[in-house]
Amino acid sequence: MTVLPPGSPRPRRLRATPALRRLTAEHRLDARDLVLPLFLREGASEAVPIASMPGVVQHSRDSLRAEVVRAAEAGIGGVMLFGVPTTRDAEGSGADDPDGVLNTGIRDAIAEVGDAVVVMADLCLDEFTDHGHCGVLDGAGRVDNDATLERYAAMALAQADGGAHVLGLSGMMDGQVGHVRAALDDAGRADTALLAYSAKYASAFYGPFRDAVESRLVGDRRAYQLDPANRREGLRETLLDLAEGADAVMVKPALAYLDVLADVASASDVPVWAYQVSGEYAMVEAAAANGWIDRERAVRETLLSIVRAGADAVLTYWALDVAGWLRADG
Ligand code: PBG
Repeated sequence: MTVLPPGSPRPRRLRATPALRRLTAEHRLDARDLVLPLFLREGASEAVPIASMPGVVQHSRDSLRAEVVRAAEAGIGGVMLFGVPTTRDAEGSGADDPDGVLNTGIRDAIAEVGDAVVVMADLCLDEFTDHGHCGVLDGAGRVDNDATLERYAAMALAQADGGAHVLGLSGMMDGQVGHVRAALDDAGRADTALLAYSAKYASAFYGPFRDAVESRLVGDRRAYQLDPANRREGLRETLLDLAEGADAVMVKPALAYLDVLADVASASDVPVWAYQVSGEYAMVEAAAANGWIDRERAVRETLLSIVRAGADAVLTYWALDVAGWLRADG
């Protein structure tokens, strides 16, 4: 006896076998769309584990070089470099020192892989300042937007000199994309691309990252990063960055901001990326370590949700794991 009348929709038909599901999948993961964030610790003689990010390390120069080669061999799209300096000061002078940790890492990475993998660098002062803010402070202790832009311009030139292909502007200062673009162009660096962290929210999910870079921050970044309550403002920041010449735009964190990501994806005329941040990583790793969640399935599902929401590429600490799983899928 048929309960459903003849001709009734039966969407389950296409879910019946793995082959049908594979053919009808609307989105899939691709190692080429993944970017691996990497930390380089100044003076380290070997890789140092990061307690709140099991499986992620602060690299030595040698281990960073090896990891960049591994990324190239795994076919992932790019690496995003962060520096962990041994000394910090009010201006973050290590950031634009050609021999500073991050600029050294850029040169090392380029020496290993050249143009085979996209080498990107974080362009922000927080790792280099003794107060841990993303910019320089004024007399009242507030982050001084326009004075910070001058520091970002200097940092951009140092990173471009090191050979970085893409600079990731993550500081959330007003006008940073336009200012850095003009500085690069004036210096004959029109080829260096800018990734704007356009919709970067003041998020609890950056917690483990602060351990990873040994941040000195006391307080928070709410006076410059976006309020998690605001969806429309994420789009506004993106449109401003596009008008200033961003080559790609990004939403960060990813999982808690998929609505913003979908908005940005439908409004942008340049590539849209998302950053699956340290706390997103730590959450799944912690649950998996307790046997409360299936690690691989959970990781794939979070990444798929980010791609489904509209990301063209994703920064993720799982990039190498995922590349391995995708290879095994065939
Ligand atoms: C700023 C920067 C941060 C992250 C990437 N770039 C920290 C912050 O804004 O507080 C966080 C990335 C992560 O949590 O994985 N240099």
